[in-house]
Amino acid sequence: MDQKPVTVPAIKAMKRLQRIGMLTAYDYPTAKIADAAGTDIILVGDSLGMVVLGYPDTLSVTVAEMVHHTRAVARATQRALVVGDMPYLSYHVSIEESVRNAGEFIRAGARAVKIEGGKPARIKAVEAILDAEIPVMGHIGLTPQSVNVVGGFRLQGKNAGDARRLIDEAIALDQAGCFSLVLECVPEELAALITERVSIPTIGIGAGPSCDGQVLVFHDLLGLYDGHTPKFVRRYANVGDDMRNAIARYLDDVRSGRFPDGTKESFHMSSTEELKKLYGDSVVVPMPKVN
Ligand code: KIV
Repeated sequence: MDQKPVTVPAIKAMKRLQRIGMLTAYDYPTAKIADAAGTDIILVGDSLGMVVLGYPDTLSVTVAEMVHHTRAVARATQRALVVGDMPYLSYHVSIEESVRNAGEFIRAGARAVKIEGGKPARIKAVEAILDAEIPVMGHIGLTPQSVNVVGGFRLQGKNAGDARRLIDEAIALDQAGCFSLVLECVPEELAALITERVSIPTIGIGAGPSCDGQVLVFHDLLGLYDGHTPKFVRRYANVGDDMRNAIARYLDDVRSGRFPDGTKESFHMSSTEELKKLYGDSVVVPMPKVN
């Protein structure tokens, strides 16, 4: 695998040539693992709110929380393109605030930002952020920050009217200058049509195999999140079970006195002479209590 850092132009050039592998990450150790495995784009997603911070949805996540986690991910990443996900209300109030908030992600080490939605107000935000030299990834279909308006986390673009609106939004985001476009939870037929119509790579999550790339949430892929798992997730490991078992074995060893080993996992005084200075001539080393 080419170890050169993945750039925005490199991602654009991958359309129709090479499928893009994108994954979320939220902290230093997991970003390091995702990067070493060859992930092309690491998204510091606002799914952080649910899978890391324990919120019920993404709406409570703040710019400060996102920036804090972006900084950790950026420090861990050598190859992948790090994209910061702009949270709810960080690009909705005014153009000026949107640009300033996007800049906070760049200062934290992200090389692009992602925003949700494709209506005219979002297009204006995209253009202004791009004008500040910050690449933007679009995101349409199921946009979790709109959960209260659409009434739940459900498939979008099922009928011709909705599908046509999403195609128009995709074209508008492409024309505004987005470098890629996430399609979340839309019918495979619609994702294929949008992928065909736009000049930028589409990255699907619950959008079928025709997209130019795919993205999954780190905790879903690895079995680290025990909340609702959508149908489109493929679980490649059950790391949560492995962690639970390892911790249970550790606790068992602590309680039974098997951990730590008195030789291999402990330190000792430099000599018996030093011990004698401590305890006097009759050295009695206190023994740990074993249950
Ligand atoms: O926040 C997130 O993880 C996302 C991806 C699901 C695309 O937006």
